[in-house]
Amino acid sequence: MLSIVILGTGNIAKHLAGSLSKAEGIALTQVVGRNQEQLQWFSGLAPTSNDFNAIAEADVYLIAVKDDAIVEVSKFLSDKKGIVAHTSGTTPMDGLKVENRGVFYPRQSFTEGRLLDFKSIPFCIEAHREDSAETLKTLASRLSNTVSNIDSHQRKKLHLAAIYVNNFSNYLYGVGENICAEEGLSFNLLKPIILETAEKIQTMSPMEAQTGPARRGDEKTMQAHLTLLHDEKQIELYKLFSEAIKKVYEEKL
Ligand SMILES: NC(=O)c1ccc[n+]([C@@H]2O[C@H](COP(=O)([O-])OP(=O)(O)OC[C@H]3O[C@@H](n4cnc5c(N)ncnc54)[C@H](OP(=O)(O)O)[C@@H]3O)[C@@H](O)[C@H]2O)c1
Repeated sequence: MLSIVILGTGNIAKHLAGSLSKAEGIALTQVVGRNQEQLQWFSGLAPTSNDFNAIAEADVYLIAVKDDAIVEVSKFLSDKKGIVAHTSGTTPMDGLKVENRGVFYPRQSFTEGRLLDFKSIPFCIEAHREDSAETLKTLASRLSNTVSNIDSHQRKKLHLAAIYVNNFSNYLYGVGENICAEEGLSFNLLKPIILETAEKIQTMSPMEAQTGPARRGDEKTMQAHLTLLHDEKQIELYKLFSEAIKKVYEEKL
C-alpha cells in the first residue's frame, strides 16, 4: 500500500485526489492546503489540514501548487523520508529543496469540473533516486496506462509543445467562434471539423493531415479570405499561418 499526501487544493490536486482515492493499493493519507474553503472539497476523500507544519508521514508527497510556490512548499517537507514530487511541466526537479525528490507530471489539460479518464493520461516521471523512480512509476501505473521516464529538459520541451497543440489551437477555436458570431452562425457548425482534425492525427501525422488553401497554394482563395477580415490580429494570424503552411508544402506543389 502506497500512502500519499497531496499539497495544494487546485485543479490538479482535485483531479489527482479523485483518482487516487479510487485506485487500488493507494491510501490517500492527507490533503494539505492553505485555503480552508477549498479543503472542504476533499473532506470525503481524505483527512485535510491547512497547517503546513503538520504534514502526515507518507511514501509520496505530491506538490500540486502553482509553479512559483513549489520551492516554498517543498521547504516544509525537508525532514520527510518519503518522495517529494511536484506535478509541474516547467519546474526543474532539482528546484525541490529535499534529497528524495521527483516529478509526477500528468500531460493533460485539467479544468475544474471536467471528468477525465486517467487511464489515457500520459504520466511523465523523473526522480533523483532510482528506487524513487520505480515507486513513482508504480504509483502512476495504478492510475494510467502510459508512464514514461522523462527528464527535466525533455519535460520543458514537452510542455512547450503542448502550448502549441492545446493553448494556441484553443485560441484559434475562439477566433473561429468570433468569426461565426459576426454572421450569426453557431459555433456548433465547426465542432465536427474540430473533432475530425483531432481524430485523424491519431492515425496519421499532422504533416499528412493538413488540408486547405495554404497547403494547395490557392492564392485567390487566401486573398478573398483576407478581404473578409477586419480585425488586425486575425489578419496577422491568417497571414502568419498561411505563410508557415505554404513553406512546409511549397516544395511539393
Ligand atoms: N491545470 C493543468 O492543466 C495542469 C496540467 C499539468 C500540470 N499542472 C501543474 O500542476 C500544478 C498545479 O496546477 P493547478 O492547475 O492545479 O493550479 P490551480 O488550480 O491554480 O491551483 C494552485 C494551487 O496552488 C496553491 N498555492 C498557490 N500559492 C501557494 C503558496 N504560496 N502556498 C501554498 N499553496 C499555494 C493554491 O492555493 P490557494 O487556493 O490558497 O491560492 C491552489 O491550491 C502546477 O505546478 C501546474 O503547472 C497543471
